[in-house]
Amino acid sequence: MNKVQKPLMDLSMPAGISKIEKVVQDYQIFQTFLAAVNLGLFDYLSQKGAADRKVIAEGIGINGMFSRSFLDTLVEIGLLSKQDENYQNSAIANDFLVSGSPFYQGDWVKNIGCGSQWGNLEESLKREKPEIKKTGSGPSEAFLNSLAETSLRGELQAVTKAIAGWSGFAKAKTLLDLGGGHGLYAIALCQANPNLKGVVFDKPDVTQITQKYIDKYQMSSRMSTRGGDICTDGFGSGFDIVIVSHLLYKFRKELEPFFEKVYKALNPGGLLVTNHWFCAPGCTAEGSSVRELAKSLQSFGHPLCHIEDFYKIFENKGFKLILKSDIPSTHGTSFLQLAVKGEGGKDASDKSCCC
Ligand SMILES: C[S@@+](CC[C@H](N)C(=O)[O-])C[C@H]1O[C@@H](n2cnc3c(N)ncnc32)[C@H](O)[C@@H]1O
Repeated sequence: MNKVQKPLMDLSMPAGISKIEKVVQDYQIFQTFLAAVNLGLFDYLSQKGAADRKVIAEGIGINGMFSRSFLDTLVEIGLLSKQDENYQNSAIANDFLVSGSPFYQGDWVKNIGCGSQWGNLEESLKREKPEIKKTGSGPSEAFLNSLAETSLRGELQAVTKAIAGWSGFAKAKTLLDLGGGHGLYAIALCQANPNLKGVVFDKPDVTQITQKYIDKYQMSSRMSTRGGDICTDGFGSGFDIVIVSHLLYKFRKELEPFFEKVYKALNPGGLLVTNHWFCAPGCTAEGSSVRELAKSLQSFGHPLCHIEDFYKIFENKGFKLILKSDIPSTHGTSFLQLAVKGEGGKDASDKSCCC
């Protein structure tokens, strides 16, 4: 049955549209910000200094008709400042959006805006399994650059300082970073210990990206990459430190054989480092829901579960836990564990547990 239609003139809008307008406006502001990063505006202003909108429009190649509202939007969100008719970078823009800065976060912004799962969220939400890519291929360079930048907001510093505080660190000579991606954890530790040599193990396509980071930090004399698959390839042996950071989410059902291989790769007395997100008991959310969704997308649907069972797996293999620590990360608390392989191998370690 057809509903009798009200005349348009009498249609009165229910309350609440301003909330929807705000969400859409936030999206438009993000797109303005993304365009500024992609156009190289902050790098341009860092070199040029304060300039008026005509000069800026010409310099970054945009139509002058849009320049005033485009630049004023960036002033409103605190990324530019404006004096008289001249615009310049704010301190925040200089710290985080100029590509030469050690705190640069522009690849993270670009990845969220152009390359990540947020770009096709409907598709990501429908996916039942991690995306299957052709053999050997891994995450994109955009994703790894973004991950490198976000890890430098404090997570990497906290994890590597904890490792450097281990009593065996000064004597350690070899390190393996499994699923190391950008390789920054290994690079930071090689910087801290001049006698340390590092190997970053990752998918073959990824190791080309890792090599760019090794070259950037001038570590090629002490660091190398190894392309392979952690499920099917050996890890080698004779390592004093093995790092496993944000790797295990999609292997949560294969943890036992994984830690068996890690155990074999380590020297007696060597250090196992793991760093991952775990869900709270009952799988409850830790922070804002959208941050939980971001974490969930990055950890293939869900962080790891049941941290006590996780400890048991590697303790059963013959590791002794020496440190557990909560590490602030971009997606909330990450859980760091340091564990040492028994000096005389598995048997000796088991005996020491029973004493
Ligand atoms: C989320 S990134 C973590 C990078 C770094 N460890 C960190 O914590 O920032 C996961 C890395 O594991 C690698 N990886 C995933 N599956 C792998 C596999 N089957 N074999 C080898 N590496 C793998 C990915 O290519 C990626 O570089």
